[in-house]
Amino acid sequence: MKKLTIILFLAAFCSVSTTALLAQHKYVGVKICSMCHKTEKQGNQFGIWQASKHAGAFKTLQTDKANEIAKAKGLKTSAAESPECLKCHVTGYGSDAKMPTFKQEDGVQCESCHGPGSDYKVMTIMKDQKKAIAAGLIVAKDDPKLCTKCHNEESPTFKSFDYKVAWAKIKHEIPAK
Ligand code: HEC
Ligand code: HEC
Ligand code: HEC
Ligand code: HEC
Repeated sequence: MKKLTIILFLAAFCSVSTTALLAQHKYVGVKICSMCHKTEKQGNQFGIWQASKHAGAFKTLQTDKANEIAKAKGLKTSAAESPECLKCHVTGYGSDAKMPTFKQEDGVQCESCHGPGSDYKVMTIMKDQKKAIAAGLIVAKDDPKLCTKCHNEESPTFKSFDYKVAWAKIKHEIPAK
């Protein structure tokens, strides 16, 4: 009896850990998303993102201004090397689930808001919203929490955040058909 309990316990434990492994979606990087999201017909989400501040968020850390902020905070490393800055200025900082196509230099990329794309990026899944969400895609309508995990007082240059105003600056909708 006891043995059976242990076996059952182990079986349950193993299946839980395999599910956890499968759920570890990887970051693929904006280049991959851009392949299908750059024509006017699709809404050119890539072009809109590229023109936004998010695309330059890592480069911002390489400026004198950023290094002054880092120094004033008592950091010993340059801003672009400090976890204290990188955690909001690049996608998926601290995650080792990244594909070779992923580049930290691309700043705050699509996957910061839409979730790591390794499992939803294929056409057959992307076309089907339900399947895509099951594979890790995040589509959050009017949810400021998606933004305030970075746009908050922990940001050394933070002033205020208004979701409506901010979203209007980066909106990238699929045109009505
Ligand atoms: C192989 C082509 C392809 C790639 C690569 C791709 N997508 Fe898509 N994506 C699509 C298509 C097709 C749709 C459906 C568009 C429609 O409904 O008109 C879509 C829809 C979406 C939607 C809207 C979902 C909804 O139903 O509201 C989001 C968000 C999205 N993609 C994000 C991404 C991100 C982020 C990446 C990169 C990690 C990515 N896509 C990569 C083809 C692609
Ligand atoms: C992963 C962190 C992160 C997330 C999540 C995030 N942002 Fe940002 N955002 C930044 C950083 C960092 C900058 C500054 C980039 C720079 O200036 O180099 C920025 C800048 C901006 C700017 C330009 C500055 C301004 O205030 O005009 C807008 C607009 C903006 N974000 C909107 C949004 C919206 C809307 C959301 C949620 C849908 C969002 N952001 C989610 C990190 C993030
Ligand atoms: C700062 C966060 C953020 C970033 C970065 C971002 N998105 Fe989005 N995206 C959103 C939000 C929030 C929505 C849903 C808005 C709504 O419909 O209210 C959205 C919607 C979409 C949609 C669906 C539009 C529709 O009309 O249904 C697509 C497609 C999409 N994003 C693709 C991308 C791609 C591709 C990138 C990178 C090139 C990207 N997004 C970068 C936050 C972001
Ligand atoms: C909690 C997330 C977060 C952290 C941590 C963070 N930033 Fe930012 N940073 C942002 C956001 C969001 C913006 C754009 C809006 C704003 O200024 O708050 C930004 C903007 C900036 C800007 C451009 C502001 C301007 O007016 O030109 C610089 C420079 C900057 N950050 C440097 C740094 C440095 C250096 C660190 C580390 C010491 C750091 N940030 C840490 C989120 C963050």
